[in-house]
Amino acid sequence: MATSARPVAPAASLTSAGGPTSRIQVTVNGRSVVAEVEPRTLLVHFLREVLGLTGTHIGCDTSHCGACTVHLDGKPVKSCTVLAVQVSGREVRTVEGLEVDGKLSPVQEAFVEAHGLQCGFCTPGMMMTATALLARNPNPTDAETRDAIRGNLCRCTGYVNIVKAIQLAGKKMQSASSAPGGKP
Ligand code: FES
Ligand code: FES
Repeated sequence: MATSARPVAPAASLTSAGGPTSRIQVTVNGRSVVAEVEPRTLLVHFLREVLGLTGTHIGCDTSHCGACTVHLDGKPVKSCTVLAVQVSGREVRTVEGLEVDGKLSPVQEAFVEAHGLQCGFCTPGMMMTATALLARNPNPTDAETRDAIRGNLCRCTGYVNIVKAIQLAGKKMQSASSAPGGKP
C-alpha cells in the first residue's frame, strides 16, 4: 500500500493551551501520519478524534471491554491502554484497514455471513482480535477461539455466532490460500 506523509493539524483539539506536546510519526493503515500530541493522549483518542477513525470504539473506562482493540505492529492491543506517544515509529492497523481495495477481508465477510453481530458495538474489536488469531492459527478450535476473544466483551450475541464467524473466516482464508495464485 502506498505510504504518504500527512501532517495533522487538528491535534490542537487534544492539547491544552500551552501544554507540552510531542511530535509523533506513526503508520496507520499503511499511511504515514505526523502529529503533535500531549503526553497523556491515549491511542484510542488519537485514532478517533485526530484521525477520525471512529471504527475503533470506546466501551468502558476500565480496560475490560476490548471494543478499542487495534493492531500494534501486528499484535492486538487495547488502544485505551496505550499512549499515542508510545506508538511513534510503529505501525497501527484499525478496523478501517481490514478491507483491501474496497473488498472486505475474510473476517469481515464471515461476520456478515455467520451473523456474528447484533448491535455491532463490539464488532470492530472482535474482528481485530479474530484477524490476529487467524494469522497465527487459521483453524482454531472452539476453545482456542473463545480463549482468543476472552478480552473482548459482547453484550448481545452470547458469542456463539462470533465463534462461528471466526472459524468460517479461517476456512475462507485457508481455501483462498490453497486456490491457484493464492498466498501460501
Ligand atoms: S475501551 Fe474498553 S477496553 Fe478499551
Ligand atoms: S453485538 Fe452488541 S455488544 Fe456485541
